[in-house]
Amino acid sequence: MIFRSLLTSLEKKTPMVEGVGIDIAEVSRIRKSIEDYGELFTGKVFTEAEKAYCVEKPSPYQHFAARFAAKEAFSKATGTGWDDNFSWQEVEVINEASGKPVLRLSGLTLRTFGHKRIFLSLSHSGDYVTAVVVIEG
Ligand SMILES: CC(C)(COP(=O)(O)OP(=O)(O)OC[C@H]1O[C@@H](n2cnc3c(N)ncnc32)[C@H](O)[C@@H]1OP(=O)(O)O)[C@@H](O)C(=O)NCCC(=O)NCCS
Repeated sequence: MIFRSLLTSLEKKTPMVEGVGIDIAEVSRIRKSIEDYGELFTGKVFTEAEKAYCVEKPSPYQHFAARFAAKEAFSKATGTGWDDNFSWQEVEVINEASGKPVLRLSGLTLRTFGHKRIFLSLSHSGDYVTAVVVIEG
């Protein structure tokens, strides 16, 4: 009995992977959206901090596309994809001093997923960027 309750409490505390999401995005497609729609697009999808990060890089569109992919990968990791509750702005990519990207949530997304550990990795190559998100609960 004691062993069983110890096991149950250990099981409750052991972090488990609850979701994985992956996305690949074309830099040229994101570039076209930015060129065609400007702030209408960037203001809807990216936060001010994300825009500031991207525009100071030598190849800003790669970094915009990577952030777009990260948000999509997060929506896949949650298992819901884009639903009515999905807000691009509430899923923000920030970079630690080392350059390592992390997701910062806000609003309803923070209230729903703020108690989970979330891991993000990004990569760029030519016209493609990829993002992987893991949610641990
Ligand atoms: C992090 C590192 C593996 C990136 O590899 P890369 O092939 O150059 O670049 P990729 O396109 O695959 O990845 C770029 C993404 O890596 C991520 N990244 C950067 N530093 C990172 C780190 N310390 N840990 C995890 N991810 C990191 C970022 O998200 C970046 O995209 P972003 O700027 O849009 O956020 C590589 O730059 C590295 O080892 N850096 C540490 C050492 C270093 O900076 N040396 C200076 C150059 S000699």
